[in-house]
Amino acid sequence: MKRWMVVLVLCMVLLLAACSSGDDGKFVGIAMPTKSMERWVLDGENMVKEFKALGYRTDLQYAEDIVETQISQIENMITKGVDVLVISAIDGESLTNVLEKAAAANIPVIAYDRLIRGSEHVSYYATFDNFKVGMLQASYIEEKLQLSKGGGPYNIELFAGSPDDNNAYFFFNGAMSVLQPYIDNGTLVVRSGQTNFDQAATLRWDGAEAQKRMDNLLSAFYANEPLHAVLAPNDDVAIGVLSSLKGVGYGTEAKPLPVITGQDANLASVKSIIAGEQTMTVFKDTRVLAKKAVEMADALLSGEEAEVNDTETYDNGVKVVPSYLLEPVAVDIANYEEVLIESGYYTRDQLD
Ligand code: GAL
Repeated sequence: MKRWMVVLVLCMVLLLAACSSGDDGKFVGIAMPTKSMERWVLDGENMVKEFKALGYRTDLQYAEDIVETQISQIENMITKGVDVLVISAIDGESLTNVLEKAAAANIPVIAYDRLIRGSEHVSYYATFDNFKVGMLQASYIEEKLQLSKGGGPYNIELFAGSPDDNNAYFFFNGAMSVLQPYIDNGTLVVRSGQTNFDQAATLRWDGAEAQKRMDNLLSAFYANEPLHAVLAPNDDVAIGVLSSLKGVGYGTEAKPLPVITGQDANLASVKSIIAGEQTMTVFKDTRVLAKKAVEMADALLSGEEAEVNDTETYDNGVKVVPSYLLEPVAVDIANYEEVLIESGYYTRDQLD
């Protein structure tokens, strides 16, 4: 072989090695819970967009709400050599071991929207003010029923989110911080008596499960009594509750729908709000959250500190994870155009 040929082959080998070793930009693994919930699809798309704009390669995976699938997806990302992991946990308690593996490979981890519990290897947490989400839902009920002016008693039933999601407790506690005094003084009545988180919880935020529970509550406690409000922690639960109510004839002049809260501003729920069914939702702008998580990842990989605004609230059982809490916004028929359309989150066409 001629000398120049040897040099050429060597150059090609070096070039290939450079490409496959990922030197062509940082590499991020993004593990999301499920595609069956609209918000996570938007979260994933927004993060990929933001990471790409900074020159990152991305590996975005969804685990269809199966914990074992999420763990093996994260293991694969570690094997593929990602530089940083952004994870929204299905079960916040189940990632301790896989995070040990990430730490052993020097891969930092950012908890996205949901706190990862039971691990010291969580560098940052990007989320919304989850307690406030619950407060917004409950304050909306308070205002609609004018609870502070007395009146009533009004009947309410309470739903909570998934017990394996740390956020669900914050939402419920935030809501109860507003509702409990009215329950205590008799302005609000929970006819089922189911006021504990465990009684109200909805595993995996499953709308069908919420619908079943509402069916049972309606037939056991509301055969001859109207229901005036339902605390629903997110839009999937709200839509399940709504189907149940409509199934027994709510939604007419004689039997108006109760006030029903929600969260996430899913398309189906915004349409329902426009149609006068679901009453409100809490909008959490996934564009802004995605940007925050990307900033955190980028700071970590640049050896800088990320901006945080809360270093007290989110104790994961091992440490308090430095967090950035974004502001949630209550949305109803009066402001959905301004908040959701004028901000460019949805187009008018999507809501028709
Ligand atoms: C929570 C999240 C909510 C909602 C819910 C259902 O963790 O904070 O916005 O999406 O999960 O997936």
